[in-house]
Amino acid sequence: MNAIKFPPNFIWGTAAAAPQIEGAAFLDGKGESVWDRFARIPGKVVGDANLDVACDHYHRYPDDFALMRELGIKHYRLSIAWPRIFPQGDGELNQAGIDFYNRLIDCMLAEGIQPWVTMFHWDLPQALEDRGGWRERLTPEAFGVYAETIVKAFGDRVKHWITLNEMRCFTILAYGDTIRPPGLNEGEKVVNQTYHHALLAHGLGVQAVRQHGGENAQVGITDDCIIPVPVIETEPHIKAAEQAIRELNIRSIDPILKGEYTELYHTLTGENAANVEPGDIELISAPTDFFGMNIYTGVYVRAKEDGSPEILPFPSGYPTADAPWLKLIPQAMYWGPKLIKSVYDVPSIYITESGAGYDDVPTETGEILDLHRRQYVRQCLMELHRSIGDGSPIEGYFLWSFMDNFEWLDGYTKRFGICYTDYSTQKRTPKLSAHWYKEVMQQNQLV
Ligand code: NOJ
Repeated sequence: MNAIKFPPNFIWGTAAAAPQIEGAAFLDGKGESVWDRFARIPGKVVGDANLDVACDHYHRYPDDFALMRELGIKHYRLSIAWPRIFPQGDGELNQAGIDFYNRLIDCMLAEGIQPWVTMFHWDLPQALEDRGGWRERLTPEAFGVYAETIVKAFGDRVKHWITLNEMRCFTILAYGDTIRPPGLNEGEKVVNQTYHHALLAHGLGVQAVRQHGGENAQVGITDDCIIPVPVIETEPHIKAAEQAIRELNIRSIDPILKGEYTELYHTLTGENAANVEPGDIELISAPTDFFGMNIYTGVYVRAKEDGSPEILPFPSGYPTADAPWLKLIPQAMYWGPKLIKSVYDVPSIYITESGAGYDDVPTETGEILDLHRRQYVRQCLMELHRSIGDGSPIEGYFLWSFMDNFEWLDGYTKRFGICYTDYSTQKRTPKLSAHWYKEVMQQNQLV
């Protein structure tokens, strides 16, 4: 058999995020987050579900880490809840929050699991939103203090930091498209400013790690950049995809990786460009150790006659996971890292999320035979392997998610876990994909 082997020392892991699994939304001094507030508005979240209990990981983390160990998971991407540390976003520190993450990190390490910590996974303290949220510079400034606080508190044990998760979901979707908290419909200028403030927060997060994280600490950002997949893998279409990846992500990753707001940014944003203060660009584009990519899907692109990109609409009936936004495009896993490498010359990439959401139902015997998830993830890994073979500097892969959890607008209806969560009993059951992934990790090859 011709084994599909991954490079030695390749990092395999799983991922989750505090607001989606912890619960204890108002316990031990935690402040309200924008998602705690948003979920309480009737009709916003499927089933009017909220984050109050979620997977109760706040109380069950020892069992969860024991299960991770059993499944051979050695790296776990988690996030810290900002409102647990600073209930009002800034000002008074909540020592109980620090104590909780100290216990949690110690427990992980005792189970042989390395933490990869995301500083911000969308749960902005509501009190900061009340003062303007990402529209105002005070939010990245407060984030800077928060980042410094957590790096100082946990940096002796945490060596991998991720500043922000998926900027798009708390900038344009939140302030421009109404569909994420705070659910506003502001104009382009405001939206561009929220992006700029997010970029600043990233820069301050990097600074915190550099100043307080210790010598061997690594830091990067995780983004869900939109990935154009050349519909025919030939030169003109690949060139069009290279142009498209910049244009599609001009407000988020381009300033970080180009180190400036380029002419292209100004052309595309015009008079709505963000206001920038002296020193901002240096902060935003300070070198990082890796670039994190969340890759679930993409868009298809082809070259027009003049060579410029044309994004193709999906025909009805194009295959998706049960989450309809998740069009099944395994080649995004090849082209995402490949384009980021060729356009921005990034030296190191981690896939910080990849997976698929389905309405899993246990069989009569209680098994969860998620053949669809296993199949899609496997196809994605084939493409990842092809990408590595073609020179993409991919050093690791984190499957989303360790267990089913609060899937934002979809509440608890879409399941992304490789472990099934029974929300009535909080029992976790490894799905077929978990048993499969265990072997992949252990053998460092596709099985
Ligand atoms: C990306 C987000 O980071 C995560 O929170 C979410 O659950 C997954 N995508 C699946 O939609």
